[in-house]
Amino acid sequence: MKRTRFITLDSTNEYIKREDSIGEYHIVYADEQSAGRGRRGNKWSSSKGGAWFSFCLSEDANITQEMYGKLPFVASVSVSEALREVLGEDVFKLKWVNDVYVSDKKICGILIEKSEKRFIIGIGININNEIEMEYTDSRTSLKEIAGKSFDIEEIIVKVAELFYEKYSYLIRGNWGELYSYICERDFLKGKEITVFNDEKRVEGIAQGITIDGRLIISTKDETVFLETGSVILKK
Ligand code: BTN
Repeated sequence: MKRTRFITLDSTNEYIKREDSIGEYHIVYADEQSAGRGRRGNKWSSSKGGAWFSFCLSEDANITQEMYGKLPFVASVSVSEALREVLGEDVFKLKWVNDVYVSDKKICGILIEKSEKRFIIGIGININNEIEMEYTDSRTSLKEIAGKSFDIEEIIVKVAELFYEKYSYLIRGNWGELYSYICERDFLKGKEITVFNDEKRVEGIAQGITIDGRLIISTKDETVFLETGSVILKK
C-alpha cells in the first residue's frame, strides 16, 4: 500500500480532493491537521498522536449508489476490527452510521465525501493523543483505554487494508457478514435518541438497523426508518 506522510496538513480529505494523482490503495496521513473537518461542517481536533488519514475509491459505473451508501459501514467495521486486533479486546461498538465508540465515548469519526469521480474516506482515530478538556466526557483514546501507546502507522495501514478487503467482499455480494457484525455491536440499540435529518427531528428509542442499513426508531406514535441523520443521545 502506498503511503504519503505529512508532518502537518490542513486536512487529509482536502489534500486528496486537490491531488488528482492520488489513486486507490494510496493512504495520505498527517501527524497534525490544521483544519481537520468533521461531519456537518464541524471542526475535528487533530493534534499530534492521533491517526488522521484518508484514502479513496474511484467511482465505478457498474456499482450502484446503494452499494456506495454502505461505505460508512465498511469503514467503521474496518476501524473496529483493526483496533480490536491491536488492543486484543473486543470492546468497540458502532454508532450508526459510522462512529466507533468504547463504553459511552467516541474513539473514531469518519467523513466520507464524494469529489468528482472519487469517494474520499477520511478517518480520525484517537490513539495516543490527549483528548481536549471540552471533550473528556464524550471522547476517549486507545491510550486511555489500554494505558500504553500504540504504533499509529501500523493502525492506519491495517484499517486501510481491511477497508479495501471488506469493500471487495461487499461488491461481490457479501453484505450479510458486515451486517451481522454491525448488528452485534450496535451502540444505539435500546437507547433514547434524537435524530436530526434535514428538517426532520425524530425522537424515540433506537430499535436496530434494517438489512438495507436504515436506522429503526420507535417514536410515541410510529416506527420510523432513517437513511441518514445525526444522532444525539438523551442523557
Ligand atoms: C466526524 O465524526 O465528524 C468525522 C471526523 C473525521 C475526521 C477525519 S481526520 C482525517 C480526515 N481529514 C479530515 O479533515 N477529516 C477526516
